[in-house]
Amino acid sequence: MSTMCYRLFCLVVFVIDYSSVSAEQRKLSPENLLVITAATEATDGFNRFMRTAKEFNYTVKVLGLGEDWKGGDVARTVGGGQKVRWLKKELLKHSEKEDMVIMFVDSYDVIFASGPEELLFKFSRLGHRVVFSAEGFCWPDQRLAPKYPVVHTGKRYLNSGGFIGMAPDLSAIVQQWKFKDNDDDQLFYTKIYLDKTQRTKFNMTLDHRSRIFQNLNGAVDEVVLKFERAKVRVRNVAYDTLPVVIHGNGPTKLQLNYLGNYVPTAWTYENGCGHCDDDLLFFNDVEDEEMPLVYVAVFIERATPFMEEFLERLTTLNYPLTRIRLFIHNNVVYHERHIQKFWEHHRYLFPDALIVGPEENLKEDKARTMAVEACKKDPECDYYFSIDSDVAVTNPDILRILMEENKSVIAPTLSKHGKLWSNFWGALNPEGYYSRSEDYIEIAQVTRIGVWNVPYITQVYLIKGSILRSKLSLVRLFESEGMDSDMVFCKSIRDQGVFMYVSNREEFGRLVASNNFNTSRLHPDMWQIFDNPVDWKEKYINENYSKIFEDQKSFVEQPCPDVYWFPTFSEKMCDHLVETMEDNGGWSGGTHKDERLAGGYENVPTVDIHMNQIEFEKEWLKFLKEYISPVTEKLYPGYYPKAQAIMNFVVRYRPDEQPSLRPHHDSSTFTVNIALNNKNIDYEGGGCRFLRYDCKVESPRKGWSFMHPGRLTHYHEGLPTTRGTRYIMVSFVDP
Ligand SMILES: *[C@@H]1O[C@H](CO)[C@@H](O)[C@H](O)[C@H]1NC(C)=O
Ligand SMILES: *[C@@H]1O[C@H](CO)[C@@H](O)[C@H](O)[C@H]1NC(C)=O
Ligand SMILES: *[C@@H]1O[C@H](CO)[C@@H](O)[C@H](O)[C@H]1NC(C)=O
Ligand SMILES: *[C@@H]1O[C@H](CO)[C@@H](O)[C@H](O)[C@H]1NC(C)=O
Ligand SMILES: *[C@@H]1O[C@H](CO)[C@@H](O)[C@H](O)[C@H]1NC(C)=O
Repeated sequence: MSTMCYRLFCLVVFVIDYSSVSAEQRKLSPENLLVITAATEATDGFNRFMRTAKEFNYTVKVLGLGEDWKGGDVARTVGGGQKVRWLKKELLKHSEKEDMVIMFVDSYDVIFASGPEELLFKFSRLGHRVVFSAEGFCWPDQRLAPKYPVVHTGKRYLNSGGFIGMAPDLSAIVQQWKFKDNDDDQLFYTKIYLDKTQRTKFNMTLDHRSRIFQNLNGAVDEVVLKFERAKVRVRNVAYDTLPVVIHGNGPTKLQLNYLGNYVPTAWTYENGCGHCDDDLLFFNDVEDEEMPLVYVAVFIERATPFMEEFLERLTTLNYPLTRIRLFIHNNVVYHERHIQKFWEHHRYLFPDALIVGPEENLKEDKARTMAVEACKKDPECDYYFSIDSDVAVTNPDILRILMEENKSVIAPTLSKHGKLWSNFWGALNPEGYYSRSEDYIEIAQVTRIGVWNVPYITQVYLIKGSILRSKLSLVRLFESEGMDSDMVFCKSIRDQGVFMYVSNREEFGRLVASNNFNTSRLHPDMWQIFDNPVDWKEKYINENYSKIFEDQKSFVEQPCPDVYWFPTFSEKMCDHLVETMEDNGGWSGGTHKDERLAGGYENVPTVDIHMNQIEFEKEWLKFLKEYISPVTEKLYPGYYPKAQAIMNFVVRYRPDEQPSLRPHHDSSTFTVNIALNNKNIDYEGGGCRFLRYDCKVESPRKGWSFMHPGRLTHYHEGLPTTRGTRYIMVSFVDP
């Protein structure tokens, strides 16, 4: 085990017993901890604060109860000097106590999420004698912002609603107060912090990543309730920390009320996981530099849908990329464009990456050997993480979570969407091939949760470097005549008596189906709506589509009577559809139009390409059923669309080709009309006028549909496009 590993495991051990560590390192003990707060009356917020303090056994001294508040209205303006005046007097009593730790916190809008041992442990690990909480706003004087030290990750500015420090240092700091009760306390502390001499003298720092103090203002999105194992805890997902003090400052008081419901009563919350223990949670609080070194090996052995998204996810792993060595084996010429684009954007993130392309003619088993050998040979390599291109890992914490389990070889469980097909087997038959174990279905479908010893894993797994260099050091893990590399891999590991595990304790992602991936299409992912519906939705459906159903007014508009307007496609879908049409080029011309006119389908001819011309009809109808029908049912209650449509086409309007469309009815029950490019950027003019209501929709938005009844009432015309090219997707539904 390397030093990295060693340090890491030490930490995990420490965490289990905070008190012993703290005692050794700094003689910090809960008996020497005093929490001080200021309050003039016992509001509900104050009582809640005291309740959480009592639950965790904090000793709290309350200053000011019963006194008049003269500190200004801190909610809206500056003020708070009175708090410092009280603190100045109080801390005089403790100014000589070398071993005493004082924490000052506000109380009306503060709760505790954990106890004194953990607090002192984290304080001690921050390695300073005085620590103030941090936030993203420079308040009350923004001109001071440039004077702050730069931080690379985390919040940069001081907030004085919470701080902790050794008693003599804090006392010396507040003894400098000589201002008025309604002067600003935060400004006072800020100026001391920004003075480099004082900062060094008092050994001050800020808690940039909310290891102790979570200020919610400007950070509400970073904070989630994490139900994990048998407990619930407030977690900062931006820095992956578990703060101890939660402060609903600024306009975030309501958020605190919500969190307060769970703290601390739900601390013993049982979420059905009987055998899980929670102590390893704090693993996530290790500093970046100390994280284990992981060799991440990516294998692209066959053409796979959603490759750009796959590569992009490598960059958003919640793991310090400086602790990752990336290897990519790409055996597919078609994907070279994706690798190249990825590399252009992200090479600086992975300075030591090694990419082997198809021109090298390296076979899959040889590539896998090459990658694993690199970790084996590097004594610093703590873990080897192998991932194939058909694995969509949507849980960015995957590395940390798998490491926490402390297994030699472990894989996440993943399945194809809506299928039993997964990346592990529960049992083997006598020939060494798949056999269904009694609990396979429960594990694959996550109705039985835990970590499971299995005989076969594939596509994605994590191996400890120490095992590669010991038990597996002489084993050829992937190469054997006449056998696939996945079979060789599992057999050689089993033969060495090393157990392989899968975990379904968390949701990790899914397997991507690549069987029907047709790379001769220009944008083949567009055709994946059947095989990979989740990936398809993420890529091609507008991120705000789901808000239509949450009754958010700004996402469904009614610009004209019974004409609805709502977000549908992503930018990508619009672009890919237009590019596919231009690539096809079969825009209908004059005679063609007349024939169709005679056929009676189209009342008025347009310059268009139909979905069947690009072989997208089936996929389009699926889209109508999945994404348009639900909106129709919501907006035209009582009508249940069959979602049938024969006329589905992209129309092109140009000043010199066909700029507009004369008034007409559509041969549909309702019509969907999706704008595929941007007004005022790609074209000018355009829009639609409903004659009966004399109402126009004049600023189509890219990716938004407008939907209107087809016959009878909604006689309409297409307004002239005066510059550029306008594209719209039109579908006559239920003709
Ligand atoms: C991890 O597993 C190894 C080997 O089983 C064991 O020696 C070690 O104590 C474990 N570490 C932790 C933190 O549980
Ligand atoms: C708080 O202190 C009491 C009495 O010393 C003890 O029984 C209880 O277990 C403590 N609670 C916690 C959460 O440490
Ligand atoms: C702060 O104090 C700690 C321990 O007292 C010391 O190790 C560290 O170097 C100090 N840091 C600064 C910036 O003075
Ligand atoms: C693959 O796409 C090409 C070009 O669009 C098409 O001609 C061919 O029929 C498709 N193959 C399959 C199996 O769908
Ligand atoms: C979704 O809505 C948000 C909030 O209105 C907006 O900022 C964002 O740009 C929208 N996304 C798209 C793709 O339109």
